Amino acid sequence: MLSVLFVTAALGAILSGATELFDRNLAYSSPFANAPHLSHNTRSLKARHVAFAKRQSQLDDTQSSNGFTDEHYPTFYGGDFSASPWIYNGGINFTHSVASGDPFDDSVLLWTRAVPIGSSLPDQSIPVCVSFKIFNNERLSGRPVDSGEAFTSYDVDFTLKVEAKNLKPDTSYWFQFADCTNPKTTSPIGGWSSNVVVCSRYQDGYFNAYGVAAHNTSADIFVHLGDYIYESLGNGAKIGRKTLGRELATIADYRLRLNQYRTDVSLLDAHVKAPWITVCFSPSGACFTDRKLAAVRAYHEWMPIRQVDPDDKLRIWRNFQIGKLLDLTMLDTRQYDRDITDLYYNTVIDSIADEESRSLMGSEQENWFFDTLSASKERGAIWRIVGQQIVFTQLNESGFDVDAWDGYRANRERVLNHLYNEKISNTIILSGDSHANWVSDLAHPNDTTTYDPLTGKGAIGVEFAGTAVTSSSPFGAGIQPVAADKISQVFVQINEDLQWSEGSYRGFFTLTLNTTNAVATYYAMRNISSANLDAFASATFVVEAGANKLARPVAGGSVQAGVLKVQG
Ligand SMILES: *[C@@H]1O[C@H](CO)[C@@H](O)[C@H](O)[C@H]1NC(C)=O
Ligand SMILES: *[C@@H]1O[C@H](CO)[C@@H](O)[C@H](O)[C@H]1NC(C)=O
Ligand SMILES: *[C@@H]1O[C@H](CO)[C@@H](O)[C@H](O)[C@H]1NC(C)=O
Ligand SMILES: *[C@@H]1O[C@H](CO)[C@@H](O)[C@H](O)[C@H]1NC(C)=O
Ligand SMILES: *[C@@H]1O[C@H](CO)[C@@H](O)[C@H](O)[C@H]1NC(C)=O
Ligand SMILES: *[C@@H]1O[C@H](CO)[C@@H](O)[C@H](O)[C@H]1NC(C)=O
Repeated sequence: MLSVLFVTAALGAILSGATELFDRNLAYSSPFANAPHLSHNTRSLKARHVAFAKRQSQLDDTQSSNGFTDEHYPTFYGGDFSASPWIYNGGINFTHSVASGDPFDDSVLLWTRAVPIGSSLPDQSIPVCVSFKIFNNERLSGRPVDSGEAFTSYDVDFTLKVEAKNLKPDTSYWFQFADCTNPKTTSPIGGWSSNVVVCSRYQDGYFNAYGVAAHNTSADIFVHLGDYIYESLGNGAKIGRKTLGRELATIADYRLRLNQYRTDVSLLDAHVKAPWITVCFSPSGACFTDRKLAAVRAYHEWMPIRQVDPDDKLRIWRNFQIGKLLDLTMLDTRQYDRDITDLYYNTVIDSIADEESRSLMGSEQENWFFDTLSASKERGAIWRIVGQQIVFTQLNESGFDVDAWDGYRANRERVLNHLYNEKISNTIILSGDSHANWVSDLAHPNDTTTYDPLTGKGAIGVEFAGTAVTSSSPFGAGIQPVAADKISQVFVQINEDLQWSEGSYRGFFTLTLNTTNAVATYYAMRNISSANLDAFASATFVVEAGANKLARPVAGGSVQAGVLKVQG
């Protein structure tokens, strides 16, 4: 019995010239589809596979090749080489559950990882075949809305990323992967509903914030703005969180780190629960070019993220039009093309932070950003939600953090000018990176003529900056709430635009939008030294459509943690 083919589609594809089973897995082309010297060439993967299949099967076509004979190793140990399959059929393990991401009105990316198990690990030439189905009901019954098969292999760390199409807006979906050669082997079921939009913002401890977001909120989309992984090793051993490997440099390093992070149960749950939209993956930003390429490639293998521009391998900035309700514009203010930042040794940045020409995004991205904001207004979208990594508002924290927009003041002014001059309303900037919570009205720094910090009059929008999932507070690692509030008390007084400051708790926030209101609720984790879902809502902020400022009294006049500029 030779080469049992369980996959009908695959038989045709193996013999034809088509590479579609490879191509359908976007992990092969992403992020370098148009840069063959960097991406995987699926035609050569296919050729490798065909050559292998011919050797195995004595296929007698025009380019007939000899059947598989192994004179060097006669079946010394009684092994039977006759049934080597063309497609791996020794069983697969969906080791890292499932995930989804970058939802559009009519499509979404689905992700899983299908690792061969069993005693007979596949020859490197044999692909693993995975099928997927997406349904509009939780029981996965009836006809799937979309389905298909795709290959994965060791070339992409056995990751699989497919685009499910034919979807409708405002509909709930559930999806599942299976082993093509044994449909009884299935992945966990992932799902989401796309009728209300909620965004959550995340980021040394357990990822409890991801778990609370997955289990205790009704988030439809997770927006991740901070560092998804860290390149350094850190010191997690004392709480059972020792980092594997070494400081990250090669693709193997990045894969190992992503693999380990994705064993955290809370993080897995969050990926299963709803699609993610992300922009940032790791903190190294400046000049480590090979490392950056390795990081981008591994990131695209492991994350359900779309490749925006096939010619621009580093571009991850992109826009999501979500009906008339909002545009979600994701910027890359970390990696793409920014002028040099504070790398802790080049303290010169303080003296050049005011330079007109300094750009945080690079001119191409900056122009695209302004055009996107204007186009969003023109098409009549109600909200403009801007997701990016670093704090926008001027913050004197006994000095400015020049690794934030405070190090790129002219660039910030250009953004504010665009919003004011073009009368673009209802802009909400979401920020990460600072590892503390900051909520502000958007206005020109130091301008209390146009802007009134007490009433919010004259502001042009709002910034919600969120703390980290686990990374330590800039107020001091492990700082207790009482001590953190003393510091916040000063910050809300000396920074005009800042309305709430909180620096003790790790956590995330949700943003719930409808046509008249945007509501942000911040969540604080009580203890991240162990895996748990113990958390509380620390503050809730309302922004009314058209108001372009936080509704007064800010946070209803009281918060459960941190300090408001104006209490009561
Ligand atoms: C599947 O992968 C999980 C996670 O790595 C592991 O715990 C489990 O033992 C694996 N199962 C098999 C059958 O290999
Ligand atoms: C920052 O705030 C401190 C008070 O904490 C103040 O002494 C200092 O002058 C401020 N710096 C600037 C540049 O405003
Ligand atoms: C606001 O004022 C402070 C203190 O004078 C100054 O350091 C800072 O550069 C000013 N910010 C801008 C954007 O001009
Ligand atoms: C929007 O949500 C708010 C609650 O946050 C609610 O009061 C308001 O009625 C909603 N508006 C619409 C149009 O549903
Ligand atoms: C946090 O949880 C750990 C592990 O359960 C426990 O040892 C520690 O005392 C807790 N910390 C606080 C502040 O409750
Ligand atoms: C989250 O839900 C779990 C049960 O699923 C519960 O044990 C926990 O207390 C909840 N946490 C919060 C913050 O509501």
